[in-house]
Amino acid sequence: MTERAVLPERALTSELVGVTESAAIAAAHWMGHGDNKRADQGAVEAMREAMDTGSFRGRVVIGEGERDEAPMLYIGEQVGTGDLDVDIAVDPLEGTNLVSKGLANATSVLAASEPGGLLHAPDTYMEKLIVGPPAKGKVDLDRPVAENLRIIAASLNRDVEDLTVVVLDRPRHEKLIAQIRDAGARIKLIGDGDLTAAISVVVAGTGVHAVMGIGGAPEGVLSAAALRCVGGEILARLKFRSDEERTRAKRMGVMDETRIYRTEDLAPARSLAFVATGVTDGELLKGVRFFGGAVRTHSIVMQLSPGKIRFIDSIHIEDQQHPPVIRIER
Ligand code: FBP
Repeated sequence: MTERAVLPERALTSELVGVTESAAIAAAHWMGHGDNKRADQGAVEAMREAMDTGSFRGRVVIGEGERDEAPMLYIGEQVGTGDLDVDIAVDPLEGTNLVSKGLANATSVLAASEPGGLLHAPDTYMEKLIVGPPAKGKVDLDRPVAENLRIIAASLNRDVEDLTVVVLDRPRHEKLIAQIRDAGARIKLIGDGDLTAAISVVVAGTGVHAVMGIGGAPEGVLSAAALRCVGGEILARLKFRSDEERTRAKRMGVMDETRIYRTEDLAPARSLAFVATGVTDGELLKGVRFFGGAVRTHSIVMQLSPGKIRFIDSIHIEDQQHPPVIRIER
């Protein structure tokens, strides 16, 4: 079976993007409303509904949680009614808090692969070190922070002082933040959204050179899917918050808690697509814009084979009787 036969391009462009666009639009309606739950719920419902119009039949391997705690898009749920078998990883709303507060960088995200192409990861935390292609294969999660920073800086032909590292602003990162500061690198503390930050690492011009620290494991697998497509690297180790999480993980086959996962372990796919649509404006993607009778969305689509990255600017016409004035954006 050829890779293209596993995941045809038609699925990538029109169907998968349509899914994240729907979720992003639903979430964006809740921007600034201070209601995390409804923003997330809107995205989940819209994404779930959009999936049923696709030509694929997917198994959710990364989703909204375990079956007993998520009514939709739970791990193991079958989605879609088509005949193309895929595994699907979703984060209908990456940055619920960001949307509820009207802050930047919230996205709606999805990755799809041939069955078995994405790690069936438990819904727990993950320690992460994310770097761009030049530092791939050179850094190590167990090396001192200062040493990894020296390696990243050397790979980019710059001084450690000229690096910017993204870290989630959490009390658990106090020590890590002190170590990065002692090494001399700059830090961008973010309230939420280490998946969006992971994508920024591989896009020149965003000014982000690495992501370090502990965030969600589902976001780690989705980051790996994106990084596989563009050549960056994530090194990761699961971090359980409770014995219950540990037991669940064992049931999913995670036996070695100390294992370091590389990008290819998290997303071993031969055929892989990663799609993200902006919900609020960010460094990489514009947020959803509503205007008379239409909605405009901005997405990135990455595929592994054949390697391709596309930015998709869509105008969704809602009122056919009164089509909107279309403006070219430069
Ligand atoms: P959600 O939007 O799904 O809530 O995730 C946001 C996020 O900031 C992720 O980007 C990150 O990996 C995770 O939450 C960190 O978890 P916590 O907020 O518990 O530190």
